[in-house]
Amino acid sequence: MDQLMKTKLKMAHGVTMLVVFAMMIVALKAAFDSHNLKTPPIPNMYTLHSWIGLTAAVLFGLQWISGLTVFLFPIAGPKLRANLLPFHQYYGSCIFGLVIAASWMGLLEKSIWAISDYSSKTGEGILVNVLGLMILFFGLGVTFMLSKFDKTNKEL
Ligand code: HEM
Repeated sequence: MDQLMKTKLKMAHGVTMLVVFAMMIVALKAAFDSHNLKTPPIPNMYTLHSWIGLTAAVLFGLQWISGLTVFLFPIAGPKLRANLLPFHQYYGSCIFGLVIAASWMGLLEKSIWAISDYSSKTGEGILVNVLGLMILFFGLGVTFMLSKFDKTNKEL
């Protein structure tokens, strides 16, 4: 791959993640507002979903800033870039996994709280479950693309 193509791909990755970051901030504001603006207000950060979700959000922010400063702008030397790359790849997959887990937990807790006949397998409950399965297939697709299936230097 030539250098121009590589730079274009990096830019596309950075801009996509910036858009995701902006959407995440809006979604988090909505989540906190939905608690704080209720009368009486609902306590914040008491569910496992919110803990995993906020952890994912903070890690995502750090990942974006480190990616921007180290990879996109030539501030760092080649040694630092090479050293950070495996961490960036590892934490990228971790954050992706955390976001999937948070989404599943959010769907599940909301279904249990808000769908009174969830156990009767009615339309709304099935829709939520299908959404959860779609998140699963999305996750399988992305992790498949991330895997390298390296057949070299394997001792069989
Ligand atoms: C389909 C995906 C999601 C659904 C259906 C969902 C649903 C919900 C619901 C019902 C609440 C209020 C109850 C609670 O505090 O647990 C909530 C809160 C929260 N969610 Fe999500 N969520 C989803 C994805 C995410 C993701 C991906 C993140 C992180 C990036 C996230 C972060 C949070 C946080 C931090 C709160 C706590 C707000 C507070 O305590 O005031 N959620 N979500």
